[in-house]
Amino acid sequence: MLELLPAPPVDPLWDLTAEYASDPRPERLNLVLGVYRDQTGTTPVMTAVKEAEIRLAERSGSKEYLGLSGNAAFNRAMLTMVLGGEDLTGRATAVQTVAGTGALRLLADLVRQTRPGATVWISDPAYVNHRPILEGAGLRVRTYGWLDPARMLADLREAGRGDVVLLQGCCHNPTGVTPSADAWEEIAGLAAANGWVPFVDLAYHGLGDGLDADLAPTRLLAERLPEVLIAVSCSKNFGLYSDRTGCAIVLGGSARTLRHVETTLQNAARTLYSMPPDHGAAVVATVLADQRLRTAWRTELEMMRLRITAHRADLVAHLSALGHERQASALARQKGMFSMLPLRPDQMARMRRRSGIYGTTSGRINIAGVPAHRIPFLAQGIADALATGEV
Ligand SMILES: Cc1ncc(COP(=O)(O)O)c(C=O)c1O
Repeated sequence: MLELLPAPPVDPLWDLTAEYASDPRPERLNLVLGVYRDQTGTTPVMTAVKEAEIRLAERSGSKEYLGLSGNAAFNRAMLTMVLGGEDLTGRATAVQTVAGTGALRLLADLVRQTRPGATVWISDPAYVNHRPILEGAGLRVRTYGWLDPARMLADLREAGRGDVVLLQGCCHNPTGVTPSADAWEEIAGLAAANGWVPFVDLAYHGLGDGLDADLAPTRLLAERLPEVLIAVSCSKNFGLYSDRTGCAIVLGGSARTLRHVETTLQNAARTLYSMPPDHGAAVVATVLADQRLRTAWRTELEMMRLRITAHRADLVAHLSALGHERQASALARQKGMFSMLPLRPDQMARMRRRSGIYGTTSGRINIAGVPAHRIPFLAQGIADALATGEV
């Protein structure tokens, strides 16, 4: 039977990561995956996380099943963190998921069950997994432009009642391009006028303009609209990548409706993985419940954000000094962990071959993955690739 299996598509990011691993050049740079790296190139366990882990280990309670919604304290903490005030948290329910990906999938299942014919709109370009996750849940997908705000709003005017629009709440992956506050107002206005539901993907909050600033567009949508779906990942801003920690939040409807929503999400989880793992959620709940740990976490997150911002500014300065001011000024406006280089796929391949700098074929690099002293090398690699044809 297995011989009948046709060659499946390989994940392009992990494929590039494997190519990087077998590259013998010591100067090579891996900027493919979206993980924060410190100056030594490691992805650190955050201090508050480590301390919470020690406390949890010392408490050495039980590892009994927690139930289909996962860790209740974590779910409450996520509602408070994402939505802020009581008014909104009272209108919402949250279910712990297997990271942001699990939240995207459970919410996609909820959409299919509640609106079987719905179209889900995703940005173009989009996070590589958005389309596969949505189509995997049996949903129809259309795209709206992302890079040009006028085009984005024009495309979103076509989304109609019952449609769902997936929006990255901040620090867009892969482009780093972030709508202005006015554009978010217009997006909220369109959703209210045309009756579509925003589905917000939050994976990088805290790494763009700061935690509250990055959550502001999500809170605006939650304040203005009757229904909002939110997928939250704790992978990047708590550094819990491999602990697979996240949350699906649904805002809207009566208490009875929200109970039905929670049961629907639980049923979806049951058929996929039954229950999420507790460790990461217990860590996050511990950090957010303790004022000292919470402050330590926010301080470290802010340090990470400032480091990313400084790296981007340094790259912009070096690229400008090499005569590429136009491309550098586009980079300067981007936010968060990723930068979208003004390079075509063939130029990205050339940069990989020639300089050993690995980004995705689409031009995305992880700006948090470059040690500070390697930024001039990165700028030179980009300039060399640009020399094969300006864009
Ligand atoms: C935009 C976006 N959404 C969701 C995720 C999912 O992250 P995770 O499943 O690791 O929490 C990612 C991860 O890279 C992402 O970039």
